[in-house]
Amino acid sequence: MEIMKAITIKPGVKNSIEMRDAPDPARGDDNVKVKVLRVGLCGTDADIYAGEYGEAPPGDDYLILGHENFGVVEETNGNSGLRRGDYVVSTVRRPCGKCLNCQQGEMDFCSSGDYTERGIKGRHGFMAEYYTESPEYLIHIPPALRDVAVLLEPTSIVEKGIDHIYLIQRRISWQPKRALVLGAGPVGLLAAAVLRVRGLETFVAGREPSTDLRAQVAKGLQASYLSVDGMAITDLPGKTGPLDIVIEATGVSSVVFGAMQILAPNGILCLLSVTGGTGVRPEPTDRINQDLVLGNNVVFGSVNANPRHFRKGVEDFQSLEKSYPGVLQKLITSRLPWHDYGQWFGQKRTGIKTTLEISTG
Ligand code: BGC
Repeated sequence: MEIMKAITIKPGVKNSIEMRDAPDPARGDDNVKVKVLRVGLCGTDADIYAGEYGEAPPGDDYLILGHENFGVVEETNGNSGLRRGDYVVSTVRRPCGKCLNCQQGEMDFCSSGDYTERGIKGRHGFMAEYYTESPEYLIHIPPALRDVAVLLEPTSIVEKGIDHIYLIQRRISWQPKRALVLGAGPVGLLAAAVLRVRGLETFVAGREPSTDLRAQVAKGLQASYLSVDGMAITDLPGKTGPLDIVIEATGVSSVVFGAMQILAPNGILCLLSVTGGTGVRPEPTDRINQDLVLGNNVVFGSVNANPRHFRKGVEDFQSLEKSYPGVLQKLITSRLPWHDYGQWFGQKRTGIKTTLEISTG
């Protein structure tokens, strides 16, 4: 058995991260073997590192971390539609095999809860030299996007949310004009980017001052950045005008209740933050209910994404590179050699997106 390096944790055990030897996966007949070039780091990785989330694959007591990924095809057979040297991004979730949604390829809507997710739940991830995968879960990346393709997985989350905003709103004649994104982290800024591609007037609200790089990224997308530290969320429409779409991406659950009160009539709020804590707070429930009912408003949560949302992300990246050249690249504020993973895990995080550089190809 061949051996490779991988970054692993023991799920449920705080600070158990280590770089270790793991079996180099053999390609199986129908699979593709991919050499990992880089992975992105996100809040979910931090939660798994803290022992609050994550599950090892059956039979292993460790999990190879990493779900935001970018790599190059190392080996494939003739039937995969891919060739050695092609760039690829893998999707994250795999079906449970039992529920109707999974059977129809909609595993992001798995209803049994028995799905697996690479690098997160019951399936090894991408912080390793190699992985193997069935071609149906691999998204072919045009070479021009090689520097930004590691942002595709978080973009797929946003693409799904926005896709479903429009699907749900087919309930009425709806011509949205203005959107607000709460949170200026990678997901918030990528949401702003996709909303701009859809032609919406877009606002991004963040805690950071307007001199921060996040504000520059928003400006580079011709979106308006609102520095809102200490401001009540309910005051935001006074600055933006009526809001047809609000996307919540702060990672702070209490923000959601303010966000429910700022929608224009018929407006829709999409919740994207995964918040693992146990916070409890009093909220103005009569007002929230009254606003939602009288406004015919919709509030919905959205997690993970389907392969088609990754493909839509590729299309939007191409439009973004044309309309706002170089802006996506600005989101990647730190590229660490992967041996230096300890500079991110367990540290106070700064910047927008950090990647671990695993191989140069
Ligand atoms: C990932 C999703 C995943 C979710 C819940 C997020 O960080 O981007 O793919 O479904 O965590 O595990």
